[in-house]
Amino acid sequence: MKLQASDFSAAAHMVLELVCPRTATRLSEPWSVMDDTDEAKAYREAAERFALSAMHVFFALHITRTIQGRRKVLDLACGSGGVLAIVAQLNPEIEFIGVDLSEKMLEEAEGHIRPLGLTNVRLVKGDICRLDFPEAKGADGFLCTFSMHHLPGIEILRGLFLAVRQNLPPQGAIFFGDLCHLKSERSIRFIAETENRGAPGVYLEDSLNSLRAAYFRDDIEALRREFLPETKLHTTFPARFLYVLKTKSVALPPSAQRAIAREYDHLSLANQAVFQKIQWLFRLGGLW
Ligand SMILES: C[S@@+](CC[C@H](N)C(=O)[O-])C[C@H]1O[C@@H](n2cnc3c(N)ncnc32)[C@H](O)[C@@H]1O
Repeated sequence: MKLQASDFSAAAHMVLELVCPRTATRLSEPWSVMDDTDEAKAYREAAERFALSAMHVFFALHITRTIQGRRKVLDLACGSGGVLAIVAQLNPEIEFIGVDLSEKMLEEAEGHIRPLGLTNVRLVKGDICRLDFPEAKGADGFLCTFSMHHLPGIEILRGLFLAVRQNLPPQGAIFFGDLCHLKSERSIRFIAETENRGAPGVYLEDSLNSLRAAYFRDDIEALRREFLPETKLHTTFPARFLYVLKTKSVALPPSAQRAIAREYDHLSLANQAVFQKIQWLFRLGGLW
């Protein structure tokens, strides 16, 4: 791998983030449920073209390693179905239920998933903090990606952890992955600008809002300990801007490894570079 000047600047920012005191505070997203048509379309476009597509493939790889052997998995706040479509293709023997409160996002998910001809996915309108809809019954796996920061406050996030705990059977699988709150506004701006290089300005604004709405690692760790002690929390390192909280993983069979490699090959070169960087930053944080 050839290092560029921007890599040194990134390294300097990340070390600075590691040693600086916490000055940033959490600011909720302007809208928690993404019920605006343009916003839903823009999110789907970001998931198909920009850095988010690389993060989706990275999460799909680790989700697939975490849910092996499960029968029914709920994707909580599935949005436009970017992660759901990949994991459903990679795991055809598992039934997936995508849940979201936004009809617009569910329409985007429908438009993304149906043309793929997947028969193992259903989409349901529901509140992820309640899990009181019939499709939640019998689930033995729960996913939630890039959505916890959309919940407006820590008590509501606590409701999600409680609902998952109450519905999770013994040996159930968990994979939660989301943005993690950085300590300074300077780091937030740096990560948002790096992630959105080449993307229209509206995506930069969205990323800034999302990073500012992310929960702090300490809050996630406290909820993990209280409700899901069987999981482990990992963050990117040295800048903790992403976290993954999950149950144990297993090695993938060769067919799934080949399928993941194909997903990676479909990413643009720029997004493959994003995937590689995230993989390394998570490895530094102990996620292999
Ligand atoms: C940023 S999107 C993430 C979508 C997808 N999981 C991904 O990884 O790309 C966040 C989603 O959370 C949904 N959401 C927010 N609060 C919710 C709630 N209480 N119940 C269900 N969905 C919710 C929004 O409508 C939106 O679709």
